Amino acid sequence: MRTRTLTLVSRKGENTTVKISQRAAALAPSPTLAMSARAKALRSQGVDVISFDVGEPDFPTPENICRAACAAINRGETKYTPASGLPQLKEAIVAAVNRDLGLDYSPQQVCVSNGGKHALMNIWETILDPGDEVIVFAPFWVSYPEQIALCGGRAVIIPTRGADDFQPDLAEVRAALTDRTVAILINSPSNPAGAIFTEPTMRGLADLAVERDLLLVSDEIYKHILFEGRRHLSPAQLGEEVKERTILADGVAKTYSMIGWRIGWLIAPPEIAKRAGDIQSQETSNPNTPAQWAAIEALTGPQESVEAMRAEFERRRDFLVPALNAIPGVTCNNPGGAFYVFPDVSAHLGRNLRGREIPDSQALAEYLLEEAHISTVPGSAFGSEGYLRLSFATSLELIEEGVRRLETALC
Ligand SMILES: Cc1ncc(COP(=O)(O)O)c(C=O)c1O
Repeated sequence: MRTRTLTLVSRKGENTTVKISQRAAALAPSPTLAMSARAKALRSQGVDVISFDVGEPDFPTPENICRAACAAINRGETKYTPASGLPQLKEAIVAAVNRDLGLDYSPQQVCVSNGGKHALMNIWETILDPGDEVIVFAPFWVSYPEQIALCGGRAVIIPTRGADDFQPDLAEVRAALTDRTVAILINSPSNPAGAIFTEPTMRGLADLAVERDLLLVSDEIYKHILFEGRRHLSPAQLGEEVKERTILADGVAKTYSMIGWRIGWLIAPPEIAKRAGDIQSQETSNPNTPAQWAAIEALTGPQESVEAMRAEFERRRDFLVPALNAIPGVTCNNPGGAFYVFPDVSAHLGRNLRGREIPDSQALAEYLLEEAHISTVPGSAFGSEGYLRLSFATSLELIEEGVRRLETALC
């Protein structure tokens, strides 16, 4: 257990010790943001660092969306909205899910939050009690286990491997279920591997959820960034019985390059959506009002920019994956979606590079940042040692230069 006290230093230099909660003491800060901060610090010293660490599209938010926010402000749409979001936005969300996935929901099933991350937090707060367990597949997005722990729950980690295209072994999932298991978390396409669960995997997990009376929490934030003509598969599309126990989490951040606008949502059975909205009404009230109007434009306005950004991500992936595989000791799966690659670099662990011992992916990421000036995130941050995550939300020129630096640093 980490320390439960904090030492505060006053302006006069005197120390005071205060108590903090177990929750705050146990929380691990986001390793991806930590890596980003280190890269920024180096950059501020004038070092030319290439960022492969960030999870934000490098495109500006499309103009029509920005204009809609300005228009909302000019109309005076700057007041509170209902805590769980504008009715017009809820309508737009259910219409978009119907258009994209053929699923029918009512606006009462939606709770709009301050980003997809907040939507997920609302889900855990609504469904978890202390000691409850959630099945989480590694490599996982860094916030899942920490959010679950903040709500008193426990993430039960099931490893997946690049060699299996990051598909879970269903027998392993079954063996991990206990009478405390409340939900199975699905993130397809995934951060950090860009992995897509196949239909048999998805059906296997859905069958388990029905058999054991579990919820499926499906984080679909990357569902519009798919490659080679793939179509998104949501567990909610696997029949009414599965849909009734599925909670969708989504948002505008990645699809519309709206990371800073902080609009996300959950779609759930009405009773769950209502509870989540009640929690939000006490915690934050509504998400930013002009940003909600911008999200309406994003969902209902022209969609060409979504395809343009997706196509550019695919172009970058098509350069990056073969270039990584050409580096000795690096094996990289071809991601089916999202904007990350998760190469296996285990062949380089245990080496001594330029006089530095590299026992693990953390040491490798630090070496690459300090010696090659490329920032990556160690696989250990995502629960999968032996890998690195590289985001390709950066220009092709920088990706080309970054791969050159990586190769020189490793060979
Ligand atoms: C898998 C996954 N889910 C959810 C989110 C949250 O997105 P936001 O809170 O920016 O909408 C992210 C952001 O990086 C993510 O990678």
